[in-house]
Amino acid sequence: MTVTAVVGAQWGDEGKGRIVDYLAKRANYVIRFQGGDNAGHTVINDFGKTVLHLVPCGIFYPNVHNIIGTGCVVNPQSLLEEIAHLKSIGVGCDRLWISSRAQMLMPYHRTLDELEEQARGADTIGTTMRGVGPAYSDKATRSGLRIGDLLQPDWLEARLDSALKTINRKLTILGGQPVDGREVYDLLLEFRLQLAPRIVDTAPILRMALEAGNDILLEGQLGVMRDLDWGIYPYVTSSHPTAAFAPSGAGLPAGSLDEVHGVCKAYSTCVGDGPFPVELHDEIGKLMQDVGKEFGATTGRPRRCGWFDGVAIRYAAWLNGMTGLAITKLDVLDSIETLKICTGYRLADGTVLTDTVPDTSLLMDAQPLWEEMPGWVTPTTGCRSWAALPVEARNYVSRISELAGVPVAYVSVGPERDNMFGRGSPALVTEQ
Ligand code: GDP
Ligand code: IMO
Ligand code: MG
Repeated sequence: MTVTAVVGAQWGDEGKGRIVDYLAKRANYVIRFQGGDNAGHTVINDFGKTVLHLVPCGIFYPNVHNIIGTGCVVNPQSLLEEIAHLKSIGVGCDRLWISSRAQMLMPYHRTLDELEEQARGADTIGTTMRGVGPAYSDKATRSGLRIGDLLQPDWLEARLDSALKTINRKLTILGGQPVDGREVYDLLLEFRLQLAPRIVDTAPILRMALEAGNDILLEGQLGVMRDLDWGIYPYVTSSHPTAAFAPSGAGLPAGSLDEVHGVCKAYSTCVGDGPFPVELHDEIGKLMQDVGKEFGATTGRPRRCGWFDGVAIRYAAWLNGMTGLAITKLDVLDSIETLKICTGYRLADGTVLTDTVPDTSLLMDAQPLWEEMPGWVTPTTGCRSWAALPVEARNYVSRISELAGVPVAYVSVGPERDNMFGRGSPALVTEQ
């Protein structure tokens, strides 16, 4: 029995979806533990290419139970659309469950997300506009509705009435239209009809799963650099993509985590605003964007690209208590002759940081310190073992592992399910 968290070790879009899809073949449960449909988790397998937003990436295996956990914010409309799409491509959703305690992302949360971004003027966060921030905000101020409320119509109506007292005030102040309580309530009753059989109390289910020795994967959304507390605040999401939150958001005891796989690209990308010290504005950044197809899976926005950030990975590895690294998109670097890794940040006052990411105001002016490594200039997508990788690629991956202080568990050399292999010892390779 193993409980494994799969978390983003960078700024999101590291390839968590493909890693969960790969690992889920051995799992009994896959549980999304935070976030909402701001996620875009791409999976390429026998069903073609699918971008999942709320549904966990274990859904392609008929025997795996997939749970949208308590730590998530769930937009019922987009969940229903996602289920309909999955069914249309032949993916059964019989084992898809939603925690009754998960927050409900309401239609007005999207409106508020847009109005709040507009109100920020030039000082935007660059959100995905999915309403995630306003939904978590309502959760914290206790005016949120939970998915389980759908099962109790009288309670649902009272909760909605109470929520709209403040929501309508906010909407009006921000220049929007107040919403009609009756219309929203009728819509919620529609959602109830379609989602009720999937709404469960996860506590007894997961207690039994643990006691039965089941394998459980906890799927994170986004990455540590956009964690509400540990990321580049305020350019962050409104939940906690770090592993410490995984058991809580999934509905498991704190001590239940056995493994933490941190997923990182072999370079860096980031979508949305905020400091990104390793960003490239040259032809190499363009190459990464073109070869890596670096456009947001949810919004289609171009992703900012840069060299691998060794400072951020040390911070991410420590904070997440990582036990293994899953390095993706190594193949994207196949044609680059000389690679760079950022091994330090020089702050405006001359201080050099090598293993911790400073507060955002200091990070804004941080200058990266570079280390160069030779590229391999050979295609790697066909490689299916550590030994099959060119020596320069092994050394590059090993250097990332050395900087993180965490062994490499998996290396991914292409987007498809089998373009990947497991890895043993993290030692630097010196022999040919
Ligand atoms: P997630 O949000 O962390 O699941 O990642 P996304 O799906 O948003 O972005 C990862 C992108 O990289 C997707 O388009 C994947 O198909 C693609 N991808 C994942 N692993 C690899 C890889 O090893 N090589 C290449 N070339 N593409 C990959
Ligand atoms: P996955 O799970 C990349 C970014 C947004 C913005 C910030 C806040 O696919 O890795 P939000 O809509 O959450 O309030 O936006 O976070 N962001 C993501 N970036 N991948 C994601 O998800 C993201 N989800 C949110 O661009 O900077
Ligand atoms: Mg993504």
